Amino acid sequence: RLLPQDADLGNALYQSEHAGYTGDGFVNFRESDSYVQWDVDTDAASEFDLTIRYALGAADRTGLLTAGGAQREITVESTGAWTTWETTTERISLPEGSSTLRIEAIGEDFGNIDALELERVQ
Ligand code: GCU
Repeated sequence: RLLPQDADLGNALYQSEHAGYTGDGFVNFRESDSYVQWDVDTDAASEFDLTIRYALGAADRTGLLTAGGAQREITVESTGAWTTWETTTERISLPEGSSTLRIEAIGEDFGNIDALELERVQ
C-alpha cells in the first residue's frame, strides 16, 4: 500500500480536512503540474493492477499517470462528495528494481488521493 505520507509531493498539499482517508491524510492537487510520486521496488518485471483510492466532489477530472517510464492519461469520475472515497484500477507494467510511480495534474486539478495499491497480475 502506497500512502501520501511516504510520497514526494510537488506543488500539492497533504491534507486531512475530509474524513474517510485511510492513512494520516490525502493528497490535494492544485494547478496543473502538481504531482505525487512514490519510488516502487519490484523483484521482477511484471504487470500490476494499480488501484487508486480517491475522492472527487466535483465533475470528472483527467490527470497523467507515469509508471515504469510509460505515461497515460487517466480520468477519475466524480464520487459525489469530498468525503466519499472510491477506487479505480489501471493495469500498468513495472520493470525489475526501482522505478517511479507518479500521478500529475494536467488540467486545472485532479481528485484527492488517499492511497494506491499494487497487485501483481498473475
Ligand atoms: C475543495 C476541497 C479540496 C479539493 C478541492 C478541489 O477545495 O475542499 O479537498 O482538493 O476542492 O477542487 O480539488
